[in-house]
Amino acid sequence: MESSKTRRDFLRVSAVVGTGLILSSCVGNKTNTTGQAVTSAAPDENKMGGEVTATEDLMREHGVIRCALLVYSATAIKLRGAPSAIAPDALQKTAKLFKAFGEEYHEKKLEEAYIFPAVKKAGGEAANYPDILILQHNRGREITDYIISATQGAKLGASNAEPLAKALEAFVLMYRHHAAREDTIVFPAWKQTMTGKQLDEMNDKFEDIEHEQFGEDGFEDAVKQISAIENSLGIADIAQFTAPPPPKA
Ligand SMILES: [Fe+2]
Ligand SMILES: [Fe+2]
Repeated sequence: MESSKTRRDFLRVSAVVGTGLILSSCVGNKTNTTGQAVTSAAPDENKMGGEVTATEDLMREHGVIRCALLVYSATAIKLRGAPSAIAPDALQKTAKLFKAFGEEYHEKKLEEAYIFPAVKKAGGEAANYPDILILQHNRGREITDYIISATQGAKLGASNAEPLAKALEAFVLMYRHHAAREDTIVFPAWKQTMTGKQLDEMNDKFEDIEHEQFGEDGFEDAVKQISAIENSLGIADIAQFTAPPPPKA
């Protein structure tokens, strides 16, 4: 556990500094390109950007989920206009990313395995949420499978454009509410069930799960994938979404 964490920290520092440092297979035995040993710093003190906490991890994963929802919203609008102009590929890639990163990792491996059981056990207002949130995860999975199957062909036809647009919109609405409640009520309640030391352990555990599931850079790879999809759809440049000034009073 510690070894993968240290390696990741080191890679992060290397990427930022960009000095051509190379990493030997033995963790802690770092050399530069001329073979000189590089002194290892205490991981927590010299870590660029600091540690990603478990709750930060969950919330930045919601960021990827929100990007997927933006793709779905943009697509739903276009589906009603000119369905044949939409590349089903971008929609299918988004649904597959949502399945792998959102459903099989974030929801199943983290929320359903750790967060929800602890929040239910702790009681209080937040304990009312896990049951409905799990129901929504399951409904989301049904819709994701439908999106993947509806986008198999080379083109989207007029016959499935409206049902697909409706499914996308319903999915987006559900997940906007879902993630907002998790961010504001469920995750903070979960954090309250742990001491600082226990939370530290969860930070490491979540990082290990991410590595097991995706290799070294699960989050970073997911961000790259969704960015490429946004680019292909022409929604990557956020300047286009700056709101116009309000009407003069
Ligand atoms: Fe969830
Ligand atoms: Fe979530």
